[in-house]
Amino acid sequence: MTSTWPPIDAEVSTAVTRQLHTTVSIYDRSGIIARFEDAFATRHNASHALLTSSGTAALHSAYYALGLGPGDEAIVQDYTFFATATPLLQLGAVPVLADVDIHGELDLGRAAELLTDRTKAVVITHMWGNPQNTRRLRDWCDARGLALVEDCSHAHGATRDGVSVGELADAACWSLQGRKTITAGEGGILTTPHREVYEKTTLLGHFNKRALAEMRTESPLYRFAETGLGLKYRAHPLGLAMAEVYLRRLDDWLLARQSHAARLENLLAGRAGISVLTPTNPDRTATFYAFVFTIDPHAAGFSREDLLRALRQRGYGEISTCDAMRPLHTYPVFAAPRSSHPAVGSLDRSHRRVPAATATCRSGSRRPKGCRSAHEPQPTNTPAPAPDVAKDAAGPHGRAGPCASRRSRLPGTSQQPSDECPSVPIRPTREAARLAPPASIAVAQPQDLTTRRAQSWRNAQRCFMLTEHHEA
Ligand SMILES: Cc1ncc(COP(=O)(O)O)c(C=O)c1O
Repeated sequence: MTSTWPPIDAEVSTAVTRQLHTTVSIYDRSGIIARFEDAFATRHNASHALLTSSGTAALHSAYYALGLGPGDEAIVQDYTFFATATPLLQLGAVPVLADVDIHGELDLGRAAELLTDRTKAVVITHMWGNPQNTRRLRDWCDARGLALVEDCSHAHGATRDGVSVGELADAACWSLQGRKTITAGEGGILTTPHREVYEKTTLLGHFNKRALAEMRTESPLYRFAETGLGLKYRAHPLGLAMAEVYLRRLDDWLLARQSHAARLENLLAGRAGISVLTPTNPDRTATFYAFVFTIDPHAAGFSREDLLRALRQRGYGEISTCDAMRPLHTYPVFAAPRSSHPAVGSLDRSHRRVPAATATCRSGSRRPKGCRSAHEPQPTNTPAPAPDVAKDAAGPHGRAGPCASRRSRLPGTSQQPSDECPSVPIRPTREAARLAPPASIAVAQPQDLTTRRAQSWRNAQRCFMLTEHHEA
C-alpha cells in the first residue's frame, strides 16, 4: 500500500536536519529527549515520561516495572494488536484474554469472571483511538487491588470525560511507529504517575548515564544503574525531531479528524446493518486513528466486498486489510504460550467461572468451534502454585512495583468486530488535508452473524467465549 503518512514537509525536514547536526545519539535525559518527554507528559497530564525504541519496548518496560513475572496473570482485552500482550510472555506472565463490547472497550462483566488470586493487572487498548472510560476502569481496578495499564498506541491526545488517556493508569504506553498519529518512524513512550515505575523502566532499558542520573541513590536498585539489566531501549533523536513537530500539530489534526468522522458517521447513520465502532460523542475526543464500522451483509443488503468494489470504482485506490489486528486468541503464541515461552506460568483455573462458554459447550446443539464434546478429554485444572509473594523487593526482578502487593480474588471472555478489516483512507478536502492526516476507514465484517462461538486454548487449557456483533 502506498502510504501518505507521515507528512514530510519543509518544517519536518528542517527539524530533522537541525537534529542531524546536533547529535544522533543521546545517553541521558537532555536535548530533544527531555523536550519531547516534557511536552508529551504535559499533553497527557503525566508526572513522568520515558521515551523508548518502540511501543513494544514501552509495554515490556511497564510490565516489568509493575512487577509482573512468572505465575502472574494480566487481564488483556482480546481485541487489540498482539504487541499489547506479547511482552507479558517475555516476563513469564500469562495474558488472560477478555471480551470487548461493540466499541472495542473492555467488558468488565466478563473480566470479572477471569479474576484469580494470580491476577495483578488489567491491560486495555483504546482501539482505533476510541478512549475508554478510564475513571470506571480505575475504580474497578482499585476495588480489586489491580494495576491498570493503558495501551494508547492509537490514541495520542485522546480524552474522555475530561481525562486524558493514560492519566489514570499505573503505566501508559504509546507507539510512535511510522503509521501512528505522532510518529518518530520507530519509537515509543511510556508515562506513569509513580516515581518507582519510572526508575525501574529507566533501569531496564537506559543503562549508565540516564539510569545513574534518574534513579534515587537510596533505591536498592541503584547499584545496577551503570550496567542496567541487559536491554537497551533508547529512542532515536532523528525520529524524535519529526515527532516533536507532529506533537505541536496534534490538536489541529484531532479537530480535523473529528469533523471527518462526524461527516462519515452522519452519512452512515440509520443505514441498516452498519455499526460504527467509535462514537463521536461530546464526552470524548477520539483520535480516529481509523474510522471503523462493521457491515452485517444480511441487514445491509451488501457485503464488505461490494462496498470495497464500489469505493475502488470511485477512485479510492489505497485499500488494505489490517490482518494484524486479529483477536489475540487466534495467534499460536497466545493459544499455546508455554510452547513458545517456557517460563510462562500455567493458568490458574481454580477460581475461574466461564458460565457462558461452559453452558454453550455443554448444550451440544450449538457446539461452538473449538469446544470439546463430552467424550473428548476435558482440560485438566493445573494446581495453582503457591503465590509468589516472598520476592526480595531489593532484587531487580523482585515484585517491588506498585502492584507487587496487589492480588485479586476473582477471575472472562471476548468479543471483537472481525478478524479482518480492509482499510480505506479518507480523502480529505484540500483545506483539511493541510491540517489532517488521512485517517483510514476500516470496514470490518463479522464472520458469523448468527452464532455465538467459543474457542478453547488447547495447551493453555482454557475456554472462553467470543460474541459476535450481531446475534440472532
Ligand atoms: C495497539 C498497539 N499496541 C502496541 C503496538 C506496538 O508498537 P510498536 O510497533 O511501536 O512496537 C502497536 C503498533 O502497531 C499497536 O497498534
